[in-house]
Amino acid sequence: MKSDYFPVPLQKIVVDSYPDFDLFIKRQDRFVLCRKEGYKFGQENLDDLIENNVVSLYVEKKDLERYEEYRKRMPDEVEEEAASEENEQVDFTKAHEIERYHEIMDDFFVVNHNLFQKSEEVDFPIYYHVGNNVNLFSEFEKKSEGPWELTDQISVSTRELLIRRQDIHNYQAFINRLMSTSKGAGDNQELRIMRKAVVLREMSKVVIQEILDDPRSGEKLKKLRDQVYQTADFVLENVDSFYSLMIIHSHDFYTYTHSLNVSTLCVGFGSALGLLKSPDLELLALGGALHDVGKSRVDTKLINKPSKLTPEEFGEMKKHVLLGLDLLKEHHHLPKEVLETVGQHHEKLTGTGYPNSLKGDQVSYFGRISALVDVYDALTTERPYKKALTPFEALNIISRIQGEFDEELMKKFIMMLGKQLAKG
Ligand SMILES: [Fe+2]
Ligand SMILES: [Fe+2]
Repeated sequence: MKSDYFPVPLQKIVVDSYPDFDLFIKRQDRFVLCRKEGYKFGQENLDDLIENNVVSLYVEKKDLERYEEYRKRMPDEVEEEAASEENEQVDFTKAHEIERYHEIMDDFFVVNHNLFQKSEEVDFPIYYHVGNNVNLFSEFEKKSEGPWELTDQISVSTRELLIRRQDIHNYQAFINRLMSTSKGAGDNQELRIMRKAVVLREMSKVVIQEILDDPRSGEKLKKLRDQVYQTADFVLENVDSFYSLMIIHSHDFYTYTHSLNVSTLCVGFGSALGLLKSPDLELLALGGALHDVGKSRVDTKLINKPSKLTPEEFGEMKKHVLLGLDLLKEHHHLPKEVLETVGQHHEKLTGTGYPNSLKGDQVSYFGRISALVDVYDALTTERPYKKALTPFEALNIISRIQGEFDEELMKKFIMMLGKQLAKG
């Protein structure tokens, strides 16, 4: 489906200006008029949109020229942005830049701006990522201790938002509070669904990070299981649009984000294959969330390396599969399907995968599913040295690979995602 609209970040529409084109918001797969051309775009309109978690507006393609003219009338902001984007080019051949990058990866956790609405109170400071630096939002500089009341600058920020790792527990409590109050969505069913999606994603990310920090803990595993089952339920309830609700496109390659994506995609794909929720989809969801747990035992300098791995480093990285299985052995009750998902996600039917160079039928059904999903998510994820492929580019590449993936599954995967992507 070709869209006749293009997205415009909310902050590009200036308060008290009179855009001479219609503005739309997107509600699942529909575009709804929110401001008619020629009307003033006031502060109260902006507040309303922020309150409803809207971050992008849409303009009809026929109005592209008008929009560009409108933007030209606001020259200062455009120049400022271009300048700051230039500053974001980081030279990762410099040792101190690499070190700084690792510090950021080790010390911070990525969070979602949709949860931070104006006048909400938080008891953890929020930072944003620019180039190879982390800056504190100005509202947290005013006093050294929380709680802090949020302004709207955080919810409209297009930067990657971060919190310190030591604040993850406070963040978790904050999400729990939001979940129990379900504030902000009112009676609007679609907004409620979108909000629940964000809450579930954020919760899942936190719980996955916890198991990566402490993979032997039975208590953490139980928590993870409860969380992924809950998320799987949500994916199945919204299976027609699960992709746009649940897949996170992150600027960097975080194991927790990737694991969440793989888990969710496994459930969506498994459902399209006709698998039953219990036990199959639940096992796939858990296997997907745990599939890279062994990375917690590989040097983080390799996991977060901002440039390509050398062949030796890649050899080290490959160990994550067996390391993962080893860690999971301690949880005696884990079903074999979960272990297959973890143990076979890098196997290829041609026998050229790892760790066991399994061939053809030796690769299990769950192993085949997770291998496809894993490659897809890796291709569509941005890394400091490699731009992310668009979903279509990734599917195109996967479709040309001969013999490594299960042909039937590959066709169904492409069909399933094609349908999801057409919905936007
Ligand atoms: Fe992996
Ligand atoms: Fe992976």
